Amino acid sequence: MKIIKSPSILKENLNKLENITLIPTMGNLHEGHLSLIKEAKKLSKNIVLTIFVNPIQFNSKHDLENYPRTLKQDVSLLKDSAVTILFTPSTKDIFPTKPFLSYKMPIISNELCGKTRIGHFKGVITVVDRLFNLTNPSYAIFGKKDYQQLYLIKKFVSDSKLPIKIIEAPTIRNINNLALSSRNNLLIDKDIKNAVELYKKLKICTESVLNGAKIHDAELMAKEELTKEGWKIDYFEIRRQSDLKKPTNKDSKLVALSAGFFGDVRLIDNVEFCIPSTI
Ligand code: PAF
Repeated sequence: MKIIKSPSILKENLNKLENITLIPTMGNLHEGHLSLIKEAKKLSKNIVLTIFVNPIQFNSKHDLENYPRTLKQDVSLLKDSAVTILFTPSTKDIFPTKPFLSYKMPIISNELCGKTRIGHFKGVITVVDRLFNLTNPSYAIFGKKDYQQLYLIKKFVSDSKLPIKIIEAPTIRNINNLALSSRNNLLIDKDIKNAVELYKKLKICTESVLNGAKIHDAELMAKEELTKEGWKIDYFEIRRQSDLKKPTNKDSKLVALSAGFFGDVRLIDNVEFCIPSTI
């Protein structure tokens, strides 16, 4: 594995490679990222993994400063992996001039996570666009845990007619079903037990809808219970999988999504499900 910091050296190295699979990350790698590498191996032997903590997708300075940065540990985790190039640019390398995105962000980017994290998804798409330009990949892999992010990246690629196949990787969970996330490292031990409640309530909510409960009632119940348990819920909603809009009674492929704070830490999760006919 080559470790490259500079975009020009990256270009030189990539010129010799074709059929590249890109795995963009913000580092603090865990089993979830290793599972993305496993997926990448099925697609090509040229895997570029990027580690870049993108400042323009953070809403608060505090969040950006507290984001775990563990490059040394990440490099040793990747040592025996199938990654061909690890790209670790600086902010100046990625945004030498003021970041600019010509793409018009879809309205849905202002809902769900976008409602409280103003400009977050524009920041994500701007950096992903830049990474696509720098690496020219055939494939790019993103996890389903960031469901809205994945949807918006797929839409961006399709709207912009980019010749890149987006691969969706399943969420990896620990034995207690907590979705693996770099933010889990910010949780203190006693909060890890509570963190998994988000997933449990998402599951219960989907099951009650499958058993005939009204979507609105099931969402409300979950929100109330989580609030009682000490969560500060940003949203807890069932949407349709295809475009993340609110479902009608004709939609069957749905997803329950939620984000909330437990203590200082913001966690997100989602559960896909299908209902046979009417809601
Ligand atoms: O999901 C992430 O880690 C980030 O949002 C991404 C896609 C690497 C862009 O900074």
